[in-house]
Amino acid sequence: MQAVSRRLGHRYLKPAASVILRQSTYFFPLADYGVEHPRYISTITPKGVGHLVRKGTGGRSSVSGLIAVVFGATGFLGRYVVQQLAKMGSQVLVPFRGGEDAHRHLKLMGDLGQVVPMHFNPRDEDSVKAVMAKANVVINLMGRDYETRNYSFEEVNHGMAEKFATIAKEHGGIMRFIQVSCLGASPSSPSRYLKAKAAAEQSVLREIPEATVLRPATMIGTEDRMLNTWAHFAKKYSFVPLFGDGSTKFQPVYVVDVAAAVVAALKDDGTSMGKIYELGGPEIFTMHELAEVMFETIREWPRYVKIPLPVAKAAAMPREILLNKVPFPLPTPSIFNLDKINAISTDTLVSENALTFLDLGIEPHKLRGYPIEFLLSYRKGGPQLGSTVSEGVSPDSLP
Ligand SMILES: NC(=O)c1ccc[n+]([C@@H]2O[C@H](COP(=O)([O-])OP(=O)(O)OC[C@H]3O[C@@H](n4cnc5c(N)ncnc54)[C@H](OP(=O)(O)O)[C@@H]3O)[C@@H](O)[C@H]2O)c1
Repeated sequence: MQAVSRRLGHRYLKPAASVILRQSTYFFPLADYGVEHPRYISTITPKGVGHLVRKGTGGRSSVSGLIAVVFGATGFLGRYVVQQLAKMGSQVLVPFRGGEDAHRHLKLMGDLGQVVPMHFNPRDEDSVKAVMAKANVVINLMGRDYETRNYSFEEVNHGMAEKFATIAKEHGGIMRFIQVSCLGASPSSPSRYLKAKAAAEQSVLREIPEATVLRPATMIGTEDRMLNTWAHFAKKYSFVPLFGDGSTKFQPVYVVDVAAAVVAALKDDGTSMGKIYELGGPEIFTMHELAEVMFETIREWPRYVKIPLPVAKAAAMPREILLNKVPFPLPTPSIFNLDKINAISTDTLVSENALTFLDLGIEPHKLRGYPIEFLLSYRKGGPQLGSTVSEGVSPDSLP
């Protein structure tokens, strides 16, 4: 397989002056990555649907021709995007900032040598250039819905996206740029995270008008930070806090569908270029209804504490005030996140005339069933058992 792709590289990917970058400008020695090797010098057209070298039947050991750099690959959505890209024989470059543990689960998703972890520092332009040097596709999944002492909403969600787009434009060989934003992103949102996401969309589309912007709703899946957080909380304290009266509506989406949308946008004939897609699930839930589904699945009594928004904001405020005032990092806000509380004061639904999953040829999954099967692990006594009266089963009553 390796030999085949090397042969293909020599045969099809001839040097193009636009992507030969001077080694001296790199933070990381590019000689180590063999960037001058003809294999890494692409002739793929910078705009529009370029010529991709394809080989094989389309499976893991094929060559899709895509050399995709996935910023944010170590996150929740990242693993599904990497898996779907690697499964079709793409080479996936995985920039990471942490230790080996951050990316090691990704290596197994592709054929030998097809998933390539690359240490980088998003604040260092040269290291971003080094990561992007060999790519023909850039996917930006980087984002964070809480601030830390080191990184503000604006830097992670907007500044970095803008930087990636600028470098991708300079690169000249990037065929597709996919920016993953967030449903509800708007300059007038009460949430700074959503404002930053809206600013990032504008900056990316200004730099690369052919970029595709995907706005997923809250994502649900094995590693999600909504149902898992609620289930943990429910197991520990026997209730779930609902902000307001739990009537805020939203459209949670299965994470695998969002990853499929990323790949569909890459593989289409160019129709998704320069467009914004809103990716919500097929059902609308209120917060309360989704919490009911969670309780039903983990077979615990549904108990809620309704917290009025002003009280929730007051409870979340100390972290925000202290964040840059104390000389040590503060705990990650899982439930009492002020910015998220601000965001849920309004419904977040796919707008009426928006392009959606269907325009990418994908029918999103309903949440009940397989997508939330991971919640079974929270059942008392194991997946087959439960403790609710409705189930009529208790671990103690069984032989
Ligand atoms: N999760 C949702 O429900 C949801 C809903 C709508 C939109 N989105 C958006 O979809 C994208 C992917 O979401 P996700 O849930 O997969 O996010 P995630 O799990 O939080 O992963 C975010 C990724 O960004 C990286 N990252 C964050 N801050 C960074 C920083 N300061 N420097 C370098 N890397 C940084 C993380 O790297 P480390 O692993 O090193 O931290 C990780 O790879 C994000 O843009 C998010 O805003 C998410």
